[in-house]
Amino acid sequence: MRCLNVALAERSYPIYIGAGLLGRVGLILPLLRTPRIALVSNTTVAPLYMDVLVKALEKEGVGVTPIILADGEAHKNWQSLNLIYDALLASRCDRGTTILALGGGVIGDLAGFAAATYQRGVPFVQVPTTLLAQVDSSVGGKTGINHPRGKNMVGAFWQPKLVLADTGTLRTLPDRELSAGLAEVIKYGLIRDLPFLDWLEANMDKLLARDGEALAYAIERSCANKAEVVAADELETAREGGRALLNLGHTFGHAIETGMGYGEWLHGEAVAAGTMMAVELSRRLGWLCAADVERVRILLQRAALPVTGPDLGAARYLELMSHDKKVIAGSMRLVLLKTLGSAVTHGDARHEDIVAAIDRCCHE
Ligand code: NAD
Ligand code: GLY
Repeated sequence: MRCLNVALAERSYPIYIGAGLLGRVGLILPLLRTPRIALVSNTTVAPLYMDVLVKALEKEGVGVTPIILADGEAHKNWQSLNLIYDALLASRCDRGTTILALGGGVIGDLAGFAAATYQRGVPFVQVPTTLLAQVDSSVGGKTGINHPRGKNMVGAFWQPKLVLADTGTLRTLPDRELSAGLAEVIKYGLIRDLPFLDWLEANMDKLLARDGEALAYAIERSCANKAEVVAADELETAREGGRALLNLGHTFGHAIETGMGYGEWLHGEAVAAGTMMAVELSRRLGWLCAADVERVRILLQRAALPVTGPDLGAARYLELMSHDKKVIAGSMRLVLLKTLGSAVTHGDARHEDIVAAIDRCCHE
């Protein structure tokens, strides 16, 4: 088992990574205020992994209320959130109840937002079961839901008490979802960890073959990067850089997800195409060279990720991007690369360069 710490003073918490951790409820028990858990999952993950967790918890005298939602990004909305509140109230969950998310990023974001808001906040535990959730969404405390006009537009920062990433659960993950997670893994290499980018190039075949050691290393290294960034800028308020850098490709990617309808493009797929747009724009600014752009394209393609975006038209991209949370007082700040392994936030890209980068990455 690998263990990392997210250093946030009194809200610090551990991330445990390893195979077979689902049954290790001894890691969860000391965190519970009362022996009561509301377990939020979905119709795909619950039949696979809920039993082992619930049985282990019940053996230790913990009462579990399962709350099983419909599966999919299209359900990351108010209706699902309300179903969680309804179930919590119907089962008389109180402030001592811990909400536990068992699933991918959709369940983690929804359950986390419910934990942040139910009775003004209850303890939260993340048990991520997708690669994307194990390397990114379960760490750092961003929770929330989508709005028809924009991704993750309603939410809260609410840190978990613990992240328990059982790498054994990745065995049942569909190939397309594994690739989606790799988009966020590659992101860490691109924004701040060039040696990790080199490692990913050398080990992509092992990751795609689900080699346990390679996956555990990639998850640990990703979480270590994310933990450092979050510890330095938890609420994404740094004027330059900071936590916003974790959003490489996301402003373009969120436009793809919203523009295509939630669930059509997976989050990681949209991030991959969006990353190509950010990389192409960085080349137009003279920061990256053509060989750098090619290097990123090849790695994303090797991870079976899309490198061209849907042809929504640049005007529609820009309209959707104008809702991004990094837009402040009308100014759009994009995450771009100065070099491979070094990202910046940049608010001065010329309109025609942004349009050209989008066009190029929709038509190749
Ligand atoms: P997801 O939660 O939709 O899961 C992907 C699919 O895999 C779903 O169908 C799910 O039921 C299924 N699944 C989950 N675990 C499985 C397993 N072990 N075996 C088989 N199937 C399994 O998608 P995701 O990629 O995990 O997360 C994407 C979401 O995360 C997006 O909504 C995105 O906005 C959000 N996100 C949040 C953060 C954050 O910091 N909070 C960061 C990145 C992404
Ligand atoms: N996924 C971006 C962040 O957590 O800030």
